[in-house]
Amino acid sequence: MEFDLAQTDALLTTTRSVRKRLDLDRPVPREVILDCIRIAAQAPTGGNAQGWRWLVLDDPEAKATAADLYRRSGREYLASYRSRPLDDQTGKVIDSADYLLEILDRVPALVIPCIKGRVDDPAPFWQASHLGSIIPAVWSFQLALRSRGLGSCFTTLHLAHEAEAAEAFGIPAGMTQVALLPVAYTKGTDFKPAERRPADHITHWNHW
Ligand SMILES: Cc1cc2nc3c(=O)[nH]c(=O)nc-3n(C[C@H](O)[C@H](O)[C@H](O)COP(=O)(O)O)c2cc1C
Repeated sequence: MEFDLAQTDALLTTTRSVRKRLDLDRPVPREVILDCIRIAAQAPTGGNAQGWRWLVLDDPEAKATAADLYRRSGREYLASYRSRPLDDQTGKVIDSADYLLEILDRVPALVIPCIKGRVDDPAPFWQASHLGSIIPAVWSFQLALRSRGLGSCFTTLHLAHEAEAAEAFGIPAGMTQVALLPVAYTKGTDFKPAERRPADHITHWNHW
């Protein structure tokens, strides 16, 4: 199989955290979300456990509940950034994050990816095996959205109230929520690669 490298690399390098350019007025059909979850389920899982589950909120009341939980920890967290000097890139991220916090309940769908099991042991073996069995799938989901003209943003702020979210949405005990993704069509699709440190600055060969 030959890939179109230009297109594949463009998808991988321009899938940004979208907040201000989420289209709040264009509905997202459930089939599109299911299609992206079908693609995400090709991601790897430890021991091929496939313990992922996806909670999709598209009901206004459910979204408002999730947005409340997000704001409860998010307002304070984002305000803490304002008390220190911010470089340009971080300042823009915080502005954008503030915006997302305010409009979260108006985003067409909020997706909470979950993974079966709870891991309290902080040892990397357990943490990496557990979270590593869902986060690659989440990124695949975000890439699949992007290739269909939709955008999303990996967020974790609601997890400060994970137990309350579990209670509100009937998430069974023993599941771990890993994120909350706002999902919407994007206003325009012309996203750009972000500035990153060069690969040879962050890579070590054979010895650190
Ligand atoms: C683990 C993780 C947690 C994040 N949590 C939040 C969040 O709670 N709210 C938010 O607006 N963005 C969140 N982000 C998005 C980051 O701010 C974003 O990835 C970063 O600024 C780089 O921007 P880019 O994804 O467009 O390259 C999170 C990203 C990651 C990987």
